[in-house]
Amino acid sequence: MGSLGFSSPLVVAVLCLVLNAALLVNGGKTSSFIRKVEKAIDLPLDADVFQVPPGYNAPQQVHITQGDLVGKAVIVSWVTVDEPGTNTVVYWSENSKQKEQAEGKIYTYKYYNYTSGYIHHCTIRHLEFNTKYYYVVGIGHTERQFWFVTPPEVGPDVPYSFGLIGDLGQSYDSNVTLTHYERNPRKGQTLLFVGDLSYADIYPCHDNNRWDTWGRFVERSAAYQPWIWTAGNHEIDFYPEILIVTASLPTYENGSHLRLP
Ligand SMILES: *[C@@H]1O[C@H](CO)[C@@H](O)[C@H](O)[C@H]1NC(C)=O
Ligand SMILES: *[C@@H]1O[C@H](CO)[C@@H](O)[C@H](O)[C@H]1NC(C)=O
Ligand SMILES: *[C@@H]1O[C@H](CO)[C@@H](O)[C@H](O)[C@H]1NC(C)=O
Repeated sequence: MGSLGFSSPLVVAVLCLVLNAALLVNGGKTSSFIRKVEKAIDLPLDADVFQVPPGYNAPQQVHITQGDLVGKAVIVSWVTVDEPGTNTVVYWSENSKQKEQAEGKIYTYKYYNYTSGYIHHCTIRHLEFNTKYYYVVGIGHTERQFWFVTPPEVGPDVPYSFGLIGDLGQSYDSNVTLTHYERNPRKGQTLLFVGDLSYADIYPCHDNNRWDTWGRFVERSAAYQPWIWTAGNHEIDFYPEILIVTASLPTYENGSHLRLP
């Protein structure tokens, strides 16, 4: 270090920290992809990525997030539209095949002239680390099956890949961005979403149907790996509680801010 000519111990210390961090997290550049700068055009409501899954009361907008601090719980969320249906998630690990079940809760909300479907949140706990689980929602009506893999136990030098997406929206470019993430050979295992999800707020009356289309759009990734959220300025609606249910951020305080999972 001395030979580099740094005289201030602080500079050296900071540099060491930076170098250390680079080694520890093995960051690196994983892609040369750059989203184009022109204004993005939103996908029409009948776009293929917004398709409603077929079948009576079929669960849609299925997504998961981490359900505790260590990685042994997962919160499964989904929406049904014909009737509340069951809150049950049936799940089993690839190893044991012994079926377990957990019960969730249902929420609904209204915003201007929009009425939500039945929004389900269900936490499944006591999972094993580093294990593939299958899960089924829509029990009793139209069942849909998904899977996820739990993270390894927290410790030093445990390899794990996080994806990072923000400002996604629901344009043609959003679809290109998500496709790029999915096809990256480094395979993100959990996605950190840094805010500005659906951009529903750019529509008249914040057309909350655009939250539903967005939920269906991201299901293809968010149902299979945890997306961990923070909220951005586009999540600010006039009534704070509306943000919570529409963004499906499962834990919150009633008031002006979010308590993030
Ligand atoms: C709700 O209001 C919006 C904006 O005024 C309008 O475009 C839409 O058709 C209305 N929807 C219903 C279901 O009334
Ligand atoms: C979105 O991307 C997927 C590929 O990941 C493709 O199958 C689909 O047709 C695309 N949809 C639109 C509307 O661009
Ligand atoms: C949030 O607080 C307001 C005002 O105190 C209350 O009317 C509303 O029902 C609360 N909403 C929830 C989801 O608790």
